[in-house]
Amino acid sequence: MAIHKLPLLLFLSIILFLNRPVLGDTDEEDILLTGINSYRTTQNLTVFSKNENAECLADEIADQFKNKPCTNDTGSFTVPGTEPQFANYPKMLSKCHLNVTDTRDGMVMPACVPRLESSLVLTNFTKTQYSLGLNDSKYTGIGIGKEDNWIVVVLTTNTPEGSYSTDTDTKHDDDDDSNGFTVSVSLVNYLLVFMFSFCFFLY
Ligand SMILES: *[C@@H]1O[C@H](CO)[C@@H](O)[C@H](O)[C@H]1NC(C)=O
Ligand SMILES: *[C@@H]1O[C@H](CO)[C@@H](O)[C@H](O)[C@H]1NC(C)=O
Ligand SMILES: *[C@@H]1O[C@H](CO)[C@@H](O)[C@H](O)[C@H]1NC(C)=O
Ligand SMILES: *[C@@H]1O[C@H](CO)[C@@H](O)[C@H](O)[C@H]1NC(C)=O
Ligand SMILES: *[C@@H]1O[C@H](CO)[C@@H](O)[C@H](O)[C@H]1NC(C)=O
Repeated sequence: MAIHKLPLLLFLSIILFLNRPVLGDTDEEDILLTGINSYRTTQNLTVFSKNENAECLADEIADQFKNKPCTNDTGSFTVPGTEPQFANYPKMLSKCHLNVTDTRDGMVMPACVPRLESSLVLTNFTKTQYSLGLNDSKYTGIGIGKEDNWIVVVLTTNTPEGSYSTDTDTKHDDDDDSNGFTVSVSLVNYLLVFMFSFCFFLY
């Protein structure tokens, strides 16, 4: 009997190990958000709260930029007034449950940093023309997206013209879907562990 329990324990530990929640999920976006918010604190301003629609739009815009190289006239080096325009911008907005009305006062800030090296990413926002936006109390919310060497920050206001919150119903549907999925996956996993151990005990 003792001989049979050892492989079982081993098997169970492997399953539990594989099922553990993914730890240390700090990526470039989280690092940048922390950096930007401590910048806000040093400026005596309220920290930005996350805005999901803005984050969605930031992802879409980063996706448009991803194959463009970092040069001295793109990203944080862009001369104001020469920002690239995207023909499919209205499509991106509607995909993110937004429209031109509730994004008008927001601010979109794309930066290009090779390998998204975190200290350069932060200074590309805090020590460039973008710092004017970060240092402005009219912005209250933030969304960050990245793709390859590009990282995009979208700032939102709490006025109707910059709230980035059109279609809250659809947004919540998406949330529920993803949570539901995660929950059912882990449930299935635990059920599997249970069934396997049961079989082993029978054996
Ligand atoms: C922030 O507030 C503190 C205390 O009121 C003050 O000493 C400091 O100069 C302020 N900083 C800025 C950037 O305004
Ligand atoms: C950008 O780089 C190009 C060539 O690499 C150079 O000719 C130009 O002067 C640079 N512009 C600025 C603003 O540094
Ligand atoms: C911004 O990123 C570029 C890399 O694309 C880097 O050369 C530049 O020094 C950065 N700017 C600041 C102010 O950190
Ligand atoms: C931030 O804004 C405040 C008030 O508008 C101004 O006094 C300060 O110099 C600005 N700081 C930077 C780094 O732009
Ligand atoms: C944008 O959405 C807001 C809030 O739902 C709505 O009031 C407004 O009419 C919309 N504007 C356009 C141009 O669709």
